[in-house]
Amino acid sequence: MPKPVDILFTPCAIGDLKLKNRIVMAPMTRSFSPGHKPGEEVAAYYRRRAEGGVGLILSEGVHPNTVTADGTPDVPEIATNEAKAAWKKVADGVREAGGRMGLQLWHEGPYRNPAKSRHPEVPSWSASGVKVPGKPLWPAMSEAEIETAIEEFVAAAVATKEAGFDCAEFHGAHSYLIDSFFWSETNQRTDKWGGDWKGRTRFAAEIVRRTRAKVGAGFPLLIRLSQWKQQDFAAVAAATPQELEKWLTPLVEAGIDAFHCSQRRFWEPAFGGSDLNFAGWARKLTGKPAISVGSVGLSGEFTAAYSGEISAPASLDRLVEMMERGDFDLIAVGRALLQDPDWAEKIRAGRTQELKAFSRDALATLY
Ligand SMILES: Cc1cc2nc3c(=O)[nH]c(=O)nc-3n(C[C@H](O)[C@H](O)[C@H](O)COP(=O)(O)O)c2cc1C
Repeated sequence: MPKPVDILFTPCAIGDLKLKNRIVMAPMTRSFSPGHKPGEEVAAYYRRRAEGGVGLILSEGVHPNTVTADGTPDVPEIATNEAKAAWKKVADGVREAGGRMGLQLWHEGPYRNPAKSRHPEVPSWSASGVKVPGKPLWPAMSEAEIETAIEEFVAAAVATKEAGFDCAEFHGAHSYLIDSFFWSETNQRTDKWGGDWKGRTRFAAEIVRRTRAKVGAGFPLLIRLSQWKQQDFAAVAAATPQELEKWLTPLVEAGIDAFHCSQRRFWEPAFGGSDLNFAGWARKLTGKPAISVGSVGLSGEFTAAYSGEISAPASLDRLVEMMERGDFDLIAVGRALLQDPDWAEKIRAGRTQELKAFSRDALATLY
């Protein structure tokens, strides 16, 4: 028999933030913000997902500064008063629709494309100046640049709170600036910002610690992490649960409230000998709420299993089972929600025959 989906629609909390259900809209860059400010169409796009029943919306990646973070046209920022005012309208719209929303703060670091940025003359920032391990493209970040980058993240998180959002997420995944410090292949530093896990985690922990001091205890701070890297989808940054603990513990001590564990398929185990996925391990090791993600609702199998036809690893049954077992607290949904703003409500009401399959054409519109 298919499992009822009730667990997805039970309330949940991240720190002081109360959420009506456990469905999170995954952060997705859309590049629909000319002038680096979200306009009315962007506000309506997020509001529609709140109206469609998503409990927590995480924004597309938002640049924390105007010079080194940006290498993708029409991606929004939060570092100017104009951008902050524009984001306030987005936050207000989501609130009015009964949703909760956080900004994802994204410094593109070594994956910034200077040629597409407003400052092509400025070298890209990363821990050791490498994008492809072993082939430095730029100087390693100086102590002063590291200090500037930390303060810009802190200021962006403070601006996020001031703009009326419910939380902020630091993008520490997918090989961008923060992740370039985490991964030993891209962090070859021998000073206090490199070396062992403690050194490689220091940059992120410092951002979290200083932000916490500014925003207070009641404003949840999330961090997104990934074992996989853009340079290598098969990369495993922490090879064992013991290593993962060394990665996560300094972030907990610095004041992080939840881990958003990016993987490409939610049902895949993180380590041998256990079927816990990446988020499952983060929760087990830290006791903090964990968000999982990865190919939810993308295949026919996902809802076919829900209707009792088959039981497959990618199925809604499997997701429900993992969440009922308490593996992780929340599930982020990316492409299925990009395609269909009413995805959450359709799942809740069992209207699975109305779900729309993801098509790449959806990327061209903001519906
Ligand atoms: C168009 C698109 C843009 C994305 N942009 C971001 C981003 O800005 N930040 C981020 O952390 N992940 C980004 N991702 C990854 C998603 O958040 C998510 O982890 C991924 O799509 C897997 O979830 P899904 O299988 O439900 O789509 C993006 C994914 C897509 C499809």
